[in-house]
Amino acid sequence: MTPPLPRKILVTGGAGFIGANFVRLALAELPECRIVNLDRLTYAGNPANLADLEDQPRYRFVHGDIRDRELVDSIMAEEMIDTVVHFAAESHVDRSITDPDAFIETNITGTFTLLEAARARWLTAAGPGDTTTGTGGAGAGAANTSAAAANHNGGTTAVGETEIDGSGRKAGAERNPVAGDADPGIGDPAAAPPSPRFLHVSTDEVYGSLGPTGYFTEETPYDPRSPYSASKAAADHLARAYFHTYRLPVLVTNCSNNYGPYQFPEKLIPLIINNALEGRELPVYGDGRNVRDWLFVTDHCRALLTVLAAGLPGETYNIGGNNEQENIAIVEIICDLLDERVGPLPGGAPRRSLIRFVTDRPGHDRRYAIDAGKIERELGWEPAVGFTEGIARTIDWYLGNRAWLDGVLDGSYREYYRRMYAHR
Ligand SMILES: NC(=O)c1ccc[n+]([C@@H]2O[C@H](COP(=O)([O-])OP(=O)(O)OC[C@H]3O[C@@H](n4cnc5c(N)ncnc54)[C@H](O)[C@@H]3O)[C@@H](O)[C@H]2O)c1
Repeated sequence: MTPPLPRKILVTGGAGFIGANFVRLALAELPECRIVNLDRLTYAGNPANLADLEDQPRYRFVHGDIRDRELVDSIMAEEMIDTVVHFAAESHVDRSITDPDAFIETNITGTFTLLEAARARWLTAAGPGDTTTGTGGAGAGAANTSAAAANHNGGTTAVGETEIDGSGRKAGAERNPVAGDADPGIGDPAAAPPSPRFLHVSTDEVYGSLGPTGYFTEETPYDPRSPYSASKAAADHLARAYFHTYRLPVLVTNCSNNYGPYQFPEKLIPLIINNALEGRELPVYGDGRNVRDWLFVTDHCRALLTVLAAGLPGETYNIGGNNEQENIAIVEIICDLLDERVGPLPGGAPRRSLIRFVTDRPGHDRRYAIDAGKIERELGWEPAVGFTEGIARTIDWYLGNRAWLDGVLDGSYREYYRRMYAHR
């Protein structure tokens, strides 16, 4: 049975880099969907990323913490959430080395809170108890809604009206094959939506570091090396455990490095663009030969829509760009493109002259490379934006959005930057 497509989506961390791109794409590609964005607005969460959506009736922003169970329960009930797309995380490896606590809290405890809230709402008859507000909880009143189906490339296909009976289940529908197979004692999912999905968004960093050859597949054993990747690995294990133990319809994706619009300028590509524009030094860790696979952010978001539409609960999908690059090559490409677009530095020196090698990050993984064959074969997704096009689009976006960049570069960011790089 093809699952109905997500209609009422709780996006966590939607004010961050990938989340903001995902919210935009999902609203455009799934015309029937409603999105509630729960974001704590840490330093990485920027309300300006979605400011133009304030009047969009299918979008609601909730300022809050994914660890706040009461808040998550009330959103799940009020909004009749049938899909969770979980981005919220502390995501920067360097910060995880200096301040790991927040990574444990948000990435592990936060994920646990969301899984528990989804389990209570979707898999138990009574839901989480008193939190149904009476304003439209899954068990409240009849409703008509329509579903839309994304094709494998993230396009949309209307599949017509879905009648929801008073219990919140599709009238005359078979029992959900996942929720309905729940172990005895979990409860009949009478209050659950017909085909819920919990998409846990993760990273390839959980797999550790590769030598000069080989690729991460979905079967590669986990070997995280930083507090960031260890906390994401823990969250991935929890998410999968909720599928195996409770039959919560969890899907996990592990993606390589993203780049594109709205990325906070602490990560390599926007950091180098910003520094190169300002004529400041371009810090490159170690010998600059660390290799990452780079994927344009919209391609990642399309892959997530594809997994939501066609992925199988309990499965993991690796997502990658087939685009391995050494860090130093990325930096040089950015320098050259900026020289072309805005001219060389005052005095005529090329921007490559700003490159400075700094002491390496402790435990710096040497190489990541993703085998994305499974999602390509089974779900028909593949990256659409090559690196030459993607990096040019990214640079042009930052050049065209200097006000966004200036807004992000406030005092706290500069203080952090000083702490990270002043003594290297
Ligand atoms: N950036 C990448 O290259 C990449 C690659 C693969 C996977 N991922 C994963 O994708 C997800 C999103 O990454 P990103 O780069 O957009 O991150 P980001 O740091 O740009 O955004 C994270 C968002 O989560 C929010 N947040 C943090 N703690 C929260 C909390 N306790 N409650 C609610 N919101 C909270 C922040 O305010 C921010 O808006 C993460 O889970 C990350 O591990 C990222």
